[in-house]
Amino acid sequence: MTARLLDGKKTAALVRDKIAVEVERLKGEGRGVPGLAVVIVGENPASRVYVGQKEKACKAVGFDSILHRLPEETTQDELLSLVEEMNNDPRIDGILVQLPLPRHINSDSIIAAIKPEKDVDGFHPINMGKLVTGLKGTEPCTPKGIMYLLNEYGIELEGKRAVVLGRSNIVGKPIAHMFMGKNATVTVCHSRTKDMASYTKEADIIVAAIGKAKFLTADMVKEGAVIVDVGINRLEEGLVGDVDFEALKEKASYITPVPGGIGPMTIAMLLLNTLEAFEQ
Ligand code: GUN
Repeated sequence: MTARLLDGKKTAALVRDKIAVEVERLKGEGRGVPGLAVVIVGENPASRVYVGQKEKACKAVGFDSILHRLPEETTQDELLSLVEEMNNDPRIDGILVQLPLPRHINSDSIIAAIKPEKDVDGFHPINMGKLVTGLKGTEPCTPKGIMYLLNEYGIELEGKRAVVLGRSNIVGKPIAHMFMGKNATVTVCHSRTKDMASYTKEADIIVAAIGKAKFLTADMVKEGAVIVDVGINRLEEGLVGDVDFEALKEKASYITPVPGGIGPMTIAMLLLNTLEAFEQ
């Protein structure tokens, strides 16, 4: 079987276009535009690339974007003061603190200090709690992007066996809950799982979010499975995901490319979350 591509680049562009139209409408009504504040601490090269993409995407749809680039030595108290300031700034609808933070800063306390209504990452314990209990809150951008893309291609989850590789707060845990919410039967595999292939071989849909280049190979997957690749690994040959794309595209029914799959969807969902925060 040759897989159909789940085109995140195209789908994300459609989302961005709709948001840009909505921003024009808001401007026309004199209601102002959504504002996103992004904070990056230190010099992590990958984080700088991601933050640059987020800023560019904000500007392209007409949002106000405020970037705070802080030095590596920033203290926890300094960062907490900035968060407090942004919480109280009416021009800022969304706050995003790029992770990972330097080791001397406690990320959990920083995330918990963000007003849940401005937490466009959906990482605040209140939003995470809402997700787990099935209440409406802000959903984290990457799993929200996965759900959006699957829906766009009419891929049903009800009754399906879903296997999630990775148990991070950013992807693995939330997507497992979102899949359960759609009545899939979900297994979460991680670094301590024994015989991972015994789970993946049974899966109708697999989400790979473990940060290991080309980890999921064709022998681990059944014919016709849906493959969602969240990995972004920099190898000499270029960017590759967590799945062996070349082999799996001949075996899967649907597969996301890297780049051009989940990456652009994540950014589009950040814009959507910021618009929703503004409208509330
Ligand atoms: N680091 C990697 N992914 C993300 C994300 O979605 N949001 C934030 N804030 N940091 C990240």
